[in-house]
Formats: sequence, C-alpha cells, structure tokens
Amino acid sequence: MKILGIETSCDDTSVAIYDEKLGLVFHSTLNQNKVHAPFHGIVPELAARSHLEKLILLVKKVVLKFSIDMKLGVHSGVLNAIAYTTGPGLVGSLLVGATIACSLSFSLGIPCILVNHLEGHLLSFMLNNTKDTFPFLVLLVSGAHTQLIDAQRLGKYSILGDTLDDSVGNIFDYIARLLGLGYPGGKKLSNLAKHGWSGKYFFPRPMTKYPNLNFSFSGLKTHVKNVILSSSGSCQEKANIAKAFEEAVVDTLVIKCELALRKTNLRNILVCGGVSSNSLLRKKLKFLTRSYNGRFIVSKKKFCTDNAAMIAYVGFLRYKLGLYFEDTLISVHPNLLINDMI
Ligand SMILES: Nc1ncnc2c1ncn2[C@@H]1O[C@H](COP(=O)(O)OP(=O)(O)OP(=O)(O)O)[C@@H](O)[C@H]1O
Ligand SMILES: [Mg+2]
Repeated sequence: MKILGIETSCDDTSVAIYDEKLGLVFHSTLNQNKVHAPFHGIVPELAARSHLEKLILLVKKVVLKFSIDMKLGVHSGVLNAIAYTTGPGLVGSLLVGATIACSLSFSLGIPCILVNHLEGHLLSFMLNNTKDTFPFLVLLVSGAHTQLIDAQRLGKYSILGDTLDDSVGNIFDYIARLLGLGYPGGKKLSNLAKHGWSGKYFFPRPMTKYPNLNFSFSGLKTHVKNVILSSSGSCQEKANIAKAFEEAVVDTLVIKCELALRKTNLRNILVCGGVSSNSLLRKKLKFLTRSYNGRFIVSKKKFCTDNAAMIAYVGFLRYKLGLYFEDTLISVHPNLLINDMI
C-alpha cells in the first residue's frame, strides 16, 4: 500500500510517498525562503502563489518516477490514496495543496485523506521506526505553536497549556532578525549562540513562577529587543545576547515540561515542531526525562520542520483505520487544533 502525502500549510512545499512495506520511498521539499526573506517574514499571498508553482513541479516528478498513469479514471495501481494537510495553516497555502490533491484523487479515482498538520508533527518520530510509546507528554514548539499536550494514545490528545501570545518559533525569528541574521533565523540564532560567553546577560524565564502550564513570550521579546538596541552591536555582543536568549527560552520550556510531568504523572516526553531541532532544547529535555526514568522522543532533524513525509505517514495510519472519504473533498481548516476531529 502506498500513500502520497502533500504538505503546503505554510511556506514549505513538500511531497512524499509512504509505502507500508518499504517506509518512505519518496520525499522532496522546496522551501520559499528566498521569496519571503526580503519581507522578513511570510507573505501569505506570495506563499500561495509559490506553492502553486512548486507543487506542480514536485507532482510531475512523482508521476514520472513512479510511472503513474494520469488518464481520467484509470488508476495505475501505484497509489492507494492521497493525503493532504487540511489545517492549521495559511488559508491560501492550504487551498493550493487541497485543490491539487483532490484533482489528483479525482483523476486517479482514489480517495483523499485529510491530515491534521499538528498530528503530523506529533507522529513524525514514527518515521524513525520508533513505534508505539504512548502515553507521553508532548511539547509542540513550531513557527505558530507552543503547546503542552497529553498524548494518551493515537488520536487522543488533550491540550494542557498554550502560549498566551507569541510562539517560540516566532520569537526566535524576531530576535534573529534584530540581530541581523535574516529570515528564517531560529537555526542561525542557535548557531550564533554557540559563540556567546556565558553569564554576560541573563534574561527572565517568563511565567515560570505560575503553577499553570501556559507560556508568554511577548515580555521577553521586548526585553531582549531593548537590550539589543542599547548594545554595542559587536559580533561578540550579538553572540552573548543570542546565548542568553536561547538559554532563557529553553529553560522556560524545560521548567514547564517538568511541571507538566509532575501534574500528569507522565514520564515520557516527545518534542516536535521546527524548534525541536534546537540542540540545547534536546539536550536539556533528554536530561529531564532521564531524571524521571522516562523516554525522550524526538524525530530526525529533517522531519522537525514542515514536510510531507509526516503527512503521508499519518495518511497511511488513517487509511488503515478507514478514516477517509471515498468522495473527493476540498476542505481546509486554518485554525484546526490538535484535538479537533476531522
Ligand atoms: N535550531 C533551531 N532553533 C530554534 N528554532 C528553530 C530551529 N530550527 C528551526 N527553528 C524554527 O522553527 C520554526 C519553523 O517550524 P515549523 O516549520 O514547524 O513551523 P510552522 O509550520 O510555521 O508552524 P506550525 O507547524 O505550528 O503550523 C521557525 O520559526 C524556525 O526559526
Ligand atoms: Mg509546521
């Protein structure tokens, strides 16, 4: 059984094929960094147009590579279904993926499977061949989300805590931009932090004194912004600020994860989303999990940011459970939550 996955929720255009026996047999992603870099952030209209261009290229590549017969109503038998990201994300970007996925599904006479992008991030660790390790605490840290989730079993997720304002990925990008690192800046900021001197700056760990599982990063953002504006601007100063900023954010996330472990009696921690490729965060969460005799679960770095491999994989799980529509259905949900039914 083979499932084609299509991901276009934000600014990465990605296509993958997951095979029940062989695993991931095709995966290709094209980013739009050059399109958005001049604007220091994602421009939704440009993202949608760029998806349209790039997705058609990627689909052509798949059709050629797997000799898929595109004649109307003739299913060559190569693919069993097409999974696409239904949400959350930018409406224009989602619509491009949904429309092309549904056109293919109609043409090939195979079903469409709607996939929640967040469940994709959450289950992406399974692409490492690590199977069922439920229950676990999930720290979802990405460009648009900062959440703590209790994952009891496949499809049963409860949100324990959320950000009240900015997401972690968002403030990494914002501070990176102020430090002159360009967009997207999370990884570049983390690389710069490696050259910083410890103890030169110390930034607050927001909301860690409160006994709830919510986050708030807007105050830290303003605080660090003011420090940057009043600093000398030398390379070393920038590295020192990057280091103190990264430490403040990671410590905040780790403190809240520990509180969540104590509140829920969970032991295993899974971290996912783009920011989960941050090395300091991985190191500190691994240490925390060990001290609770739990397992630390994280996907390979290439599957942390947006990719269609995770969409094809969740599509495969949903196909096996019969969670799909026989009719072609263009359906997008920009504000979908992890625990919403689709
Ligand atoms: N090493 C790193 N350290 C910190 N942040 C990072 C690192 N690598 C990537 N990021 C951040 O990850 C974010 C992108 O993650 P992702 O692609 O999962 O987000 P998204 O898809 O936009 O959001 P969502 O999945 O919530 O809809 C960016 O903000 C980027 O700066
Ligand atoms: Mg994402």
